[in-house]
Amino acid sequence: MGNNLLKGKKGIIFGALDEKSIAWITAIKCHEEGAQIVLTNAPVAMRMGEINKLAEKINAPVIACDVSNAEDVDNLITKSMEHFGGGFDFILHSIGMSLNVRKGKHYTEIDYAHNLKTFEISSISLHRVLANCMKKDAINDWGSVIALSYIAAQRVFPDYNEMADAKSLLESVARSFGYHYGVKKHVRVNTISQSPTRTTAGSGVKGFDGFINYAEKMSPLGNASAEDCANYCVVMFSDHTRMVTMQNLFHDGGFSFTGVTNAVIEQMEK
Ligand SMILES: NC(=O)c1ccc[n+]([C@@H]2O[C@H](COP(=O)([O-])OP(=O)(O)OC[C@H]3O[C@@H](n4cnc5c(N)ncnc54)[C@H](O)[C@@H]3O)[C@@H](O)[C@H]2O)c1
Repeated sequence: MGNNLLKGKKGIIFGALDEKSIAWITAIKCHEEGAQIVLTNAPVAMRMGEINKLAEKINAPVIACDVSNAEDVDNLITKSMEHFGGGFDFILHSIGMSLNVRKGKHYTEIDYAHNLKTFEISSISLHRVLANCMKKDAINDWGSVIALSYIAAQRVFPDYNEMADAKSLLESVARSFGYHYGVKKHVRVNTISQSPTRTTAGSGVKGFDGFINYAEKMSPLGNASAEDCANYCVVMFSDHTRMVTMQNLFHDGGFSFTGVTNAVIEQMEK
């Protein structure tokens, strides 16, 4: 099945909600490549129970953690180290939540308390996790941390709402922490900016069908699937990408650097 790209490696995967989740598919790929994994998600998501099926499949413990809660994060890192018998090698931060989108608030009229919570869950959580890991020296030398982002961090996609700001902050945290963790422990921190993907979080964006079809037509290679993203994460966790850090890596079939495609022009001429 796999090529043992992650043989002997250990990692924590955040955000596997159901089998469509990018984190779910990544966990399976990492397992196939020989990694040992700890799964985690918010207690409310775990109540759905789906994650237990994944846990059984890849023989991984599940530790509940609301990433906006410092005690939960502290407990997760401590328990993961106990489970692994020491440090670990990779982390996938695959977490997104917008309270204002949920409440149907327009970007120009957002509720700031919700806005801060969105940032806390979707962006600052990366800082919280990395800070906790650094304090406990939890990530091994040359470890690799990936957080998932979206191109709305750089360009305007109006219905992406406050999540655009959250992703900008997430990418900035990855860069800034990437510097400090790189100097201290050779740990690399990157974001992967993924194509629109049909998942629970993805489908929460208003007008998602139009959005994903447009991206498909605007990408020379077409949209990257969740499975493609999972494969990319595996490579980023492997020793073959040791010198890549503090980057936002577009994984979008070429969308980010395409001005227009013939497919879009044909559509416009109709
Ligand atoms: N689907 C897309 O179109 C797309 C595109 C680019 C980037 N992304 C990003 O990929 C990541 C994964 O999303 P997905 O598309 O697989 O959707 P998903 O809904 O399957 O995953 C989002 C996860 O975030 C978790 N989460 C929410 N609040 C949390 C909290 N307080 N504590 C811990 N976990 C919490 C959810 O339980 C869920 O598992 C997100 O960062 C998302 O923004 C998605």
